[in-house]
Order: sequence, then structure tokens, then C-alpha cells
Amino acid sequence: MDFLTTLLLLVHLIPVSAPKNGASSKSRKRIMPDPVMEPGVPGPIHEALLYCNIPNVAERSMEGHAPHHFKLISVQVLIRHGDRYPLYTIPKTKRPEIDCTLVANRKPYHPKLEAFISHMSKGSGTSFESPLNSLPLYPNHPLCEMGELTQTGVVQHLQNGQLLRDIYVKKHKLLPTDWSADQLYLETTGKSRTLQSGLALLYGFLPDFDWKKIYFRHQPSALFCSGSCYCPLRNQYLKKEQHRQYLLRLKNSQLEKTYGDMARIVDIPTTQLRAANPIDSLLCHFCHNISFPCTKNGCIDMGHFKVIKMHQIEDEKERREMKLYLGYSLLGAHPILNQTVNRMQRAAEGRKDEIFALYSAHDVTLSPVLSALGLSEARFPRFAARLIFELWQDREKPSEHSVRILYNGVDVTFHTSFCQDHHRHSPKPMCPLENLVHFVKRDMFVALDGSSTNYYDACHMEVV
Ligand SMILES: *[C@@H]1O[C@H](CO)[C@@H](O)[C@H](O)[C@H]1NC(C)=O
Ligand SMILES: *[C@@H]1O[C@H](CO)[C@@H](O)[C@H](O)[C@H]1NC(C)=O
Repeated sequence: MDFLTTLLLLVHLIPVSAPKNGASSKSRKRIMPDPVMEPGVPGPIHEALLYCNIPNVAERSMEGHAPHHFKLISVQVLIRHGDRYPLYTIPKTKRPEIDCTLVANRKPYHPKLEAFISHMSKGSGTSFESPLNSLPLYPNHPLCEMGELTQTGVVQHLQNGQLLRDIYVKKHKLLPTDWSADQLYLETTGKSRTLQSGLALLYGFLPDFDWKKIYFRHQPSALFCSGSCYCPLRNQYLKKEQHRQYLLRLKNSQLEKTYGDMARIVDIPTTQLRAANPIDSLLCHFCHNISFPCTKNGCIDMGHFKVIKMHQIEDEKERREMKLYLGYSLLGAHPILNQTVNRMQRAAEGRKDEIFALYSAHDVTLSPVLSALGLSEARFPRFAARLIFELWQDREKPSEHSVRILYNGVDVTFHTSFCQDHHRHSPKPMCPLENLVHFVKRDMFVALDGSSTNYYDACHMEVV
């Protein structure tokens, strides 16, 4: 999002109930940079806007860029579902009125929305592994259900799909026009929002695809670890990470005060309000330009929102420094990275199946993968975030393969822990596949403590 749009959106996004640009909340102004006066300052409002990922036209993206003598061999796409209705409600307040039916002439628009709806209505149960076949193929409730994908969420992924189509299908001819079922690999968790997000992306990518050639597998685990989810050390890291979070929260007196304020407005105990994870619901208000809830005791306002959002930013900063989350992530992300690398190796060996893979997932899937790859500076996965693994073959040396990693269109290959030193040691312009393979098959465990060299051993070590 550029400078100007951000500015414009900000003005409009401020709920009518809140004072204009927060000018009256003087006490908070000293702590937080005012985003309206200082646009682009990475403060809580700026971060929240990026998180919403409000569909806009011009997106710059670096997917599919490589020197001329490289040929694109395979692409794997890991996405977070698009914009959704909250998973929690704030007790004793009216939940935001959002219409989850798809309406072509309602914002946000997408030229393919109508065709998407019509194509989804022809969908067939045989395209989905059980229990996915019991899920609706597109959102359809006049008042969204909890966690339901919204029209914004559908549009975000239609756009993702179309962008990837332009680059991979039209420009690089990754798939032939008569592509076959075994050239795709599709996997999603069992939530309607992930399945529908995957379908929207796929529809943008391969418009009017033949339903007979589509098969979505079901992934029962949000970590995409099914078959190898048992990992005691990962759980220990998670407990320690949660304790770190708890201590940080206790230290933030302004946050405590804000929860207290909000609890008084809503008239429930502070602990009950906190348990209702109000930021999830407030983000939905914010992203949809709906004013924050009011009661006879007053209104939840932008000041409350900023304090909680700011705390999230500080929490992410400490999370990076403390490395407990890194331990959790290295173990948590191994199974899906292992799967990704195996698929790349098979493609590098010349197999022509599964050259496009789509994994439709959650923030709790993408976040550990980013952290495990060493992309600790990457932003928390926004709605409809995409992480892409490209595999390239050097036409001049056909036995040599390279990888590119892209996060939301940004090339982050040389920020990963397995390729950040590449330029210093090698004249090659691309990151070799072996770097990623060695990292996933061995080095990611060495990074944990140095003694384990495989997933099973690493999972059964004691925390030091
Ligand atoms: C947000 O809502 C206000 C009033 O509720 C409206 O005037 C404004 O145009 C909306 N902004 C956007 C970006 O939709
Ligand atoms: C990783 O992939 C290999 C195949 O190369 C497989 O044998 C192994 O079980 C996988 N490990 C995990 C933890 O997924």
C-alpha cells in the first residue's frame, strides 16, 4: 500500500465514534506516534492496516524473476486464509454486522467474482477428501458465522491466484494448457475458510478448471505435521514461549489498564474480557471500517485498540530476541518443510507430477515456517499472506537447481538462514537447492543445540 492510500484509508477508517485522528487522547499521544500526522511510521495503525490487506489494484511482486537461462520447474504456495469474521465475540456487545454472502456489485469488487460463484455451485464432492466434502465451497451467510471467510477474503485470494497465473502460467508456462490432475497437489485444513481460500486462489490461477481434475487433501493439523506430530520438545518450547508472553503482558501496566477500561465499558470481569481475545474482534471492526462497539457505559475506541496492537508488536519483538519461539518453530515447521523439499527433489529428478502445490493454512502454520527459515524480521502473516517456494533449473547446467523464496511478493531468499551468506561464498546468482535440502534434512536440528541431526532425536531431547 502506498503512502497516499494509507493516508486516505486512515482518515476513513477512524470510526465515527472516535475523536478525529485521536487528537483528544493526549495521554496516549506521547507514547504512540500519531499515524495520521506521521504516515508510514511503523506504528500500531500502520501495522493493523498491513494486516487487513485491503484489496487494492497495483501490487508489486517479484515472483518468477530469474536470469534468462533458468527454467521454472515447480512452484509451491503456502497461504493463510483470507479475511475472516472473528473467532471470538466481545461479551455483551453486538457482534459486527458483516454480510458473508458474495455479491458482485458490492465492494471489494473482483471481475471474476460472479464466475467464481457460478463455478463453485457446480463443484462436486468427489473433489475433496473427507471430511472436506461436507464444507460449503464459498461463504454464504447474510450474517457471517464465526470464523467465516468474507467477500474480502475471497477477493484477496482471487487476486493472489490471478497474479500467480500471469507469472507462472502465462509467462513461464509452468502448466500446459491441458494440465492433468497429477500435476497439482492441493492440501487444506478442515476449516471452511481455508478450503474456500484455496478454491478462490485456484480459480484465479486456473479459471473454470475442470472439477474432475481437482482433489483437495485434508490436513488435520494446523502445523501440517500429520503422521509426525508427536514432538515433546516442541511442546516444551511452546510452554516456555507462552510463559514469556504472560510475563511480558504483566509488565505492561498500560495494557492492564486498557483491559480494565474495556471490561468496565462492557461490564464483565477483566479476566473474562481478556479470555474473549478482544483484539481479534476489534481487528475485524477496523479492517471493515465498522465503529468499535459501544454500551451505555461508553465506547471501545481507537486508543484501546492502539494499546493492544502496540503490545502485540512489542511481543513479536521480544519473541524474536528470546528464541524460544525459534525452538518451537524449527520443530513445528520441519514436517511441512520436509514435504516441500521432498517435492522439490522429485521435480529436480525430472518427475512431472505435482509441479504446482498449494497448501491452504493459518497464521499458526506460516508463522513457524517463516521463523524456522530464519525470516525473523518478516511481518506476522496478514490475511491472504502467501509464502512461495520456486524451483529453477539452469539450462546451461541442467543438473543444477536453485530455489527462490518469496513472502507476499518480496524476494526473501537471501534473508533465509540457509542462503544469507550465499553471495559472499559463491559466484552463482541463485540460491542452490542443496542449501535448502541440507538445512531441512540436518542443519535445522543442529541449530537447536548441536547434537541431534534428525527430527525424531531432536523432538525427544530435554530442554536445556
Ligand atoms: C468508512 O465509514 C465512514 C462512515 O461510516 C464512511 O464515510 C467512509 O467512506 C468509510 N471509508 C471507507 C474507506 O470505506
Ligand atoms: C521427511 O522426508 C523423508 C523422505 O525424504 C521421510 O522418510 C521422513 O519420514 C520425513 N520426516 C518427517 C518428520 O516428516
